[in-house]
Amino acid sequence: MKIAIGSDHAGLKLKELIKKSFEEYDFIDVGTHTEESCDYPDYAEAACMKVIEGEAEKGIVICGTGIGISVAANKVKGIRAALCFNEFMAEMSRKHNNANVLALGARVIGDDLALRIVDRWFNSEFEGGRHQRRVDKIGKIEEK
Ligand code: RB5
Repeated sequence: MKIAIGSDHAGLKLKELIKKSFEEYDFIDVGTHTEESCDYPDYAEAACMKVIEGEAEKGIVICGTGIGISVAANKVKGIRAALCFNEFMAEMSRKHNNANVLALGARVIGDDLALRIVDRWFNSEFEGGRHQRRVDKIGKIEEK
C-alpha cells in the first residue's frame, strides 16, 4: 500500500522512524528532509495532495503537537485528517470517520506509542453503514 508521509522539522525524526518500522509499506516522503525550521502547512498540503490525486491510498502527517499539521491537512478538500493520541482514537478514526490521513504530534507522544498508533490505524477498516451517512455530511459541508 502506498502511504504519503510528511512532517515539519519537529516531526522529522518520527517520520524517519515510521518509514523504518513499516518497511512493508511503500512510503512517498514529501519532506521535510532536514532539521532546519520549516512550515508545517507546506508538508500537510504536499502529503494530502498525493492522497487526493490517487498516488497514495492514505497519508500520515506529523508536526510538534500534531495540531497545526492536522488543521492544515483538513483544509484540503476530501481529506479527513485525524489527530490521534492513542490506539483507540486511531482505530475509531478509521472505523467511524474513514480518516484518510493520520496526524501525529511528535512532541506529545513517545516513539513506542506513535508506532502502536500507526499500526492500529493501518489495521483498522471503515465500517460504513450509518457512519457513511455522517462522512457524506462532512463532504457536503465542503461543498458549501
Ligand atoms: C514548530 O515549532 C511547531 O509549531 C509545529 O511543529 C507544530 O507543533 C504546530 O502546530
